[in-house]
Amino acid sequence: MTSDHDKRLTRCAVSEKPWDGRFAEKTDQAVESFTASIGFDRRLYSYDIQGSIAHCRMLAKQSIISEDDASQIVEGLGRIGRHIERGNIGLDQSLEDIHMNIESRLVAEIGRAAQQLHTARSRNDQVVLDVRMYLRDEVASILARLTGLRRILVELARKHVDVVMPGYTHLQRAQPVLFSHHLMAYYEMFKRDRARFEDALRRINVMPLGSAALAGTTYPIDAEYTADLLEFPEVSVNSIDAVSSRDFIMEFLAAASICMVHMSRLSEELILWSSLEFGFVEIPDTFATGSSIMPQKKNPDVPELVRGRAGRVFGNLMALLALMKGLPLSYNRDMQEDKEPLFDTVDTVKACLEVYEKLLPRLKLNRKAMEKAASRGFLNATDMADYLVTKGVAFRDAHRCVGGVVRHAMDQDKELLDLSLSELKGFSKLFEEDIFDVLTLEQMVNRRVSAGGTAKENVVKAIDKAQEALELESAEN
Ligand code: ARG
Repeated sequence: MTSDHDKRLTRCAVSEKPWDGRFAEKTDQAVESFTASIGFDRRLYSYDIQGSIAHCRMLAKQSIISEDDASQIVEGLGRIGRHIERGNIGLDQSLEDIHMNIESRLVAEIGRAAQQLHTARSRNDQVVLDVRMYLRDEVASILARLTGLRRILVELARKHVDVVMPGYTHLQRAQPVLFSHHLMAYYEMFKRDRARFEDALRRINVMPLGSAALAGTTYPIDAEYTADLLEFPEVSVNSIDAVSSRDFIMEFLAAASICMVHMSRLSEELILWSSLEFGFVEIPDTFATGSSIMPQKKNPDVPELVRGRAGRVFGNLMALLALMKGLPLSYNRDMQEDKEPLFDTVDTVKACLEVYEKLLPRLKLNRKAMEKAASRGFLNATDMADYLVTKGVAFRDAHRCVGGVVRHAMDQDKELLDLSLSELKGFSKLFEEDIFDVLTLEQMVNRRVSAGGTAKENVVKAIDKAQEALELESAEN
């Protein structure tokens, strides 16, 4: 038989708020909808349940609650998880957030025993736990997608290892490089992004339960045990810090922002390269859209949107920094505002990585256009100067001399390779027949064997090394 007391508690938890004991009046409806976070924090539900199960097991192990109550709670929570998964539970705005919704539902499901679950815990440590668990899973999924993207870059680089393109500085043609070398530059950026996410993960992966509201708890809890159950390698050291700090989110958002800078630069290049002006690549029809008025148009919307979404991700980082900068310790309700920027960033980064993983392998290259562009615009002028240096001329003198040759060629609407040896000798007696080999695309690329240079032998080594690293990563995942 359920006692009156039990009935009151059950009723209270279903239709009223767990905290309303000291309130004489009901919350205004406008306040309920203004303060509720259930609209977005519902995505934490499975972590909230896992966290509560671990907390409950710990309470039972420490004899803070009975084994019998604990097993009812664990079973009830499991049931609620399955219901939410199937969409069988309506979540209630008047119960503010996912934590109170689940707890109230538990009271409805199992009655009195449910009242024990929140012992030695506060929503302040509970919400940080949930977000940390959510974020470590999402970081793992971002890491896997980043590995996928890097693999595709390496495969593309290997497939097109010999293709030469103009390298640019100031968006002016500068020196020829291998297209594969250019792709491997992105590989390096994304490799560092991985390291940043991994580093952030170490500080995300800290278990805060036991901090309670802010000061810790009087119950003889075993936080290490809860951490073990939830596979956290560490427990938070300071209860005030544990409920007050969100730098683990900022760090993630910063790593995500930097990653989006890289994605956005790649997007910008794809947009430029697919224009008629460049004509280096063609974006597959399935990843482009047309214009409603201009029949000839094929627009690079996917890269444009990736470039555009970078702005959102930076905005989310700014939102978090601004949110936190003036808050006194410890928890403040402002901090509920950490979730939407975080969730939006996770969704955006994952979507961008995913769409590029699909688009990049289908990119069509126009090798001829790239090599033609690399052959026009005096990209071999540096090599001509270097040639004179090998014959004993000081670099600055060689630079000036070749500057004159370039001006001469421009006046005649010619490239350096179109000039005759006698014309060249007019600028320096040191030019010989072998200058014409030095100025070919192949020679210019393959003689750049300095560390990290674009010579094919270097690039092939970099590709091999990257492939090994990726295989190792996949084995670890
Ligand atoms: N929904 C709240 C949040 O996301 C949970 C913590 C509420 N704590 C409190 N003391 N009101 O931050």
